[in-house]
Amino acid sequence: DGQFNAVADTFMQDGTGMQGGTGFNITLPCKLDAWQYVARASDSANLAQAVNTISRSKDGELRGDNTDGAGLVRDLQDNLGWQVKDKKVLVLGAGGAVSGVLSDLLKCSPASVHLCNRTTAKAEALAERLADSRLQAVSRAALGAAYDLVINGTSAGLTQQDVDVPGKIIADHSCCYDMVYGTGVTRFNGWCKQQSSQCDVTDGLGMLVEQAALAFHIWTGRSAVTAPVIQLIRQAL
Ligand code: ATR
Repeated sequence: DGQFNAVADTFMQDGTGMQGGTGFNITLPCKLDAWQYVARASDSANLAQAVNTISRSKDGELRGDNTDGAGLVRDLQDNLGWQVKDKKVLVLGAGGAVSGVLSDLLKCSPASVHLCNRTTAKAEALAERLADSRLQAVSRAALGAAYDLVINGTSAGLTQQDVDVPGKIIADHSCCYDMVYGTGVTRFNGWCKQQSSQCDVTDGLGMLVEQAALAFHIWTGRSAVTAPVIQLIRQAL
């Protein structure tokens, strides 16, 4: 706790190398710890039990926000034009990346959100914690039909592994979102295309930029235009 506050002070004190920075981002695997250390947390950070954005409130206390979920929703709805409202959504994974986005997804009024994880008990615990009638943990064996929107929040692709789920979850009308990003088509999105060549796929680069833009707004009160940033990074990849 003391160490965290010391680091925050170093970043945000006037007269340091940071010239009085107004905040900073936290990334995995430290988001859960950061949530425990901040003096105040936003609703989205409390629902996620994770913090990705640190700022200082007017009275000097450390404040934690979580912009991951809102960043994902902005990318889905504003950038990609994918509707979440009234849609059947499947989220794969139940780790930190997923817990950070579920409450914002639910705010978009999906018809249902099924949560499937390799370790089913973790999906059940997460669904129980969020206690929303539209959110339900499902086992791999229960996956029998196609979804409108499939979001991969597992880290399987980072170790060149496939998420072991049946191909019938993907149909031509499905929109598939992989929260990781990289050069070319991600492993998960490649697998989705093999199941249904007409499905739409995208990676998590837009989410990365949108969550950063929302953090920038918290620190500066200013909005960032994100489309050219996404385009620039995409070209650089
Ligand atoms: P993160 O914070 O990036 O979400 P995490 O909390 O370690 O990282 O969670 C990783 C997620 O990816 C978990 O849901 C994990 O499943 P388990 O809970 O069963 O461990 C999932 N995951 C990792 N490798 C996977 C694989 N090869 N197949 C399926 N799911 C995998």
